[in-house]
Amino acid sequence: MSDVEAADCKARIKQLLAEKNAVLVAHYYTDSFLQALAEETGGLVSDSLEMARFGRDSDATTLVVAGVRFMGETACILSPDKTVLMPTLDATCSLDVACPADEFGAFCDAHPDHIVVVYANTSAAVKARADWVVTSSIAVEVVEHLAAQGKKIIWAPDRHLGSYIQSRTGADMLLWNGACIVHEEFKAKGLQDLRAVYPNAAVLAHPESPASVLAIADVIGSTTQIIRAAMQLPQSHFIVATDKGIFYKLQQMAPDKTFIIAPTAGKDATCRSCAHCPWMAMNSPQRLLESLETGSNRVSVPRAISERAMVPLQRMLDFASGKRLKATGRA
Ligand code: 13P
Ligand code: SF4
Repeated sequence: MSDVEAADCKARIKQLLAEKNAVLVAHYYTDSFLQALAEETGGLVSDSLEMARFGRDSDATTLVVAGVRFMGETACILSPDKTVLMPTLDATCSLDVACPADEFGAFCDAHPDHIVVVYANTSAAVKARADWVVTSSIAVEVVEHLAAQGKKIIWAPDRHLGSYIQSRTGADMLLWNGACIVHEEFKAKGLQDLRAVYPNAAVLAHPESPASVLAIADVIGSTTQIIRAAMQLPQSHFIVATDKGIFYKLQQMAPDKTFIIAPTAGKDATCRSCAHCPWMAMNSPQRLLESLETGSNRVSVPRAISERAMVPLQRMLDFASGKRLKATGRA
């Protein structure tokens, strides 16, 4: 898009958001144009947990979710009376794809003595089969809480995040074999080499990365936790092992610091994602505009699934607000 086209597109989206009492909720991995637009129009740019919470609590009657489909579905489940639109309904996630609801249901049936904890990056149907839903910002605490009660856990779908949670909590966990195609490509050897070039840099990594990469990281956390670490740590340089869409917010929140993307494929190799989620990249400004203009790409979740999926989602949100109240000393 030329600058003039971009300005036109932005003005039109702003106008339609206002006319339709709609709010834009964007993930950190989406295009910086959409992140800026969400901020300028009273929407939100955040991680998947905050996106869910913000959409539910918003007074808007339409939620426009820029992210991947599970984020739109979660908004739909938590806000059944709101219209939920997405720039595209084709933006999936390799974790969601790796965990078909029927296969997962059979796996759960085969282990009836296990409590079922699933990552938010799953379909509504998989969530409907779960006892708990968690995002990466709260997964360790929830599993710690369950392990303290002596529960055995089925974890799906991300095996790297699952092993990380297991290593932190010591919980008895059966892991589903899914992976994020973006984070799985970060390479420990390349990271070590880069660290040698920037010996004073801190390494920040998302827990969907392989264990060999997490072993080198100074901070392991969700997208929001990575941003917080960059703001709070004294280092001036950071090597970041997560989707490079997050650099927009990192630079905004810590403008004096330097961010370097962690290496993905080895020398001369081609990578499948190169530190950018191909599905997040499908959220273009033009698609967003078209969805607002025509009401296309409306997300829907069958009522029976939605009602069942609401239970583990609500459990997560209640757990998260309990944690927040404790942290602020109000309960
Ligand atoms: P967050 O929950 O940290 O936003 O991560 C979502 C995601 O898709 C990571 O790849
Ligand atoms: Fe899924 Fe990975 Fe894309 Fe996140 S970055 S949406 S986990 S494929």
